Amino acid sequence: MTPSVTTGRRTATRTAPRTGPVDEALRGVLDAVPFACAAFDRRSGALVCANARFGADLGTLPGHAQRDALLATLHGEATGDARGDEVRAPGSGRWYALHWRDLDTNGRSLALLTAVDISERIETLDSHRSQQEKLLFTSRMMSVGEMAATLAHELNQPLAAIVNYLNGSLRLVGQAGGPVQVERALQAARTQAEHAAAVIARVREFVRAREPRRDAQDLPLIVDTVLELLRLEAERQQLRVELALAPGLPQVYADRVMVEQVLLNLVKNAIEAMREVPAARRGLRIEGRVNLDGEVEVRVCDRGPGLSEAESAQLFSPFYTTKSDGLGIGLAICRSIIEYHEGRLFFEARDGGGSVFGFTLPPPDRRI
Ligand SMILES: Nc1ncnc2c1ncn2[C@@H]1O[C@H](COP(=O)(O)OP(=O)(O)OP(=O)(O)O)[C@@H](O)[C@H]1O
Ligand SMILES: [Mg+2]
Repeated sequence: MTPSVTTGRRTATRTAPRTGPVDEALRGVLDAVPFACAAFDRRSGALVCANARFGADLGTLPGHAQRDALLATLHGEATGDARGDEVRAPGSGRWYALHWRDLDTNGRSLALLTAVDISERIETLDSHRSQQEKLLFTSRMMSVGEMAATLAHELNQPLAAIVNYLNGSLRLVGQAGGPVQVERALQAARTQAEHAAAVIARVREFVRAREPRRDAQDLPLIVDTVLELLRLEAERQQLRVELALAPGLPQVYADRVMVEQVLLNLVKNAIEAMREVPAARRGLRIEGRVNLDGEVEVRVCDRGPGLSEAESAQLFSPFYTTKSDGLGIGLAICRSIIEYHEGRLFFEARDGGGSVFGFTLPPPDRRI
């Protein structure tokens, strides 16, 4: 049974559609069409008749017997960049291209609808798009990777030398019972150089293997390491650092050095953003929590000038920088690292002024 039968009855009291040989002839024609096809009365919008395919594909939708109600149902579901005449049927989830034609037959003004199932084409497009995204991601990763390989290569030697010189100096100061301030400064310098060397070693390994080395990690330890590396900088800027890590935070499944790198970049950016801000307002807050999707989320919140919409659109592109001494590569690296971890790097405006840069990481029990 086609839906037109139901419709005919339901609308009979109001619009009294003529049924008879003309409709029968029309139905005969519609039934011969290999895709969903229906005729609506142009004035009232009521369904006059439809073929069996229409009944099967769209005939169960709410409002299918009225042109406007049917369109509202279908267009309500249209998503993304689908064209206006390409709609998705709720329920079945199939895509249709809609075509309308006016048809005047036997004194009757009809609007003829054909709905061609284009689900296959849309699915192919979607899969191409996701392949393109993957390709883009890979090429971004490769350019970052190549640059990292060059840097790692060039920096490795001088860094090893710096650590050696610092070790030697520390020994000398120790033997001489030298000033404790000098000893502390040398130790701090060695910690920095060792971290840099660890990052470089990790990058070299990563570029070679193109695989992060991931296991269960404690987020508070990662945050501590990063804050220790930035302690001097924070003190110099008289920066208040507020830590708000939710108690009992689950471990994250991550490459420790890489996540440290991400956090270091974000915190450095936050500190740099507050250079011009009056000292009383300069406050950095690092939050750690489990978000609604069950991912661990880290948020670095500053009271800097924030970002305009235009600025935030370019934020993650490599080489975008507003700093005279910036390379504009920090956030691009962060994004690549976080994407590798199947996480998300994001930016939000902060309530009360400033920015929030954050990322998510899957907990170990959700690793892929
Ligand atoms: N917390 C922040 N507040 C305001 N603007 C920011 C913040 N973080 C980043 N930005 C903007 O994004 C740009 C890109 O940041 P990114 O870290 O990628 O590069 P950079 O800091 O300029 O240089 P570097 O390569 O040394 O990190 C910055 O130049 C700045 O304009
Ligand atoms: Mg930066």
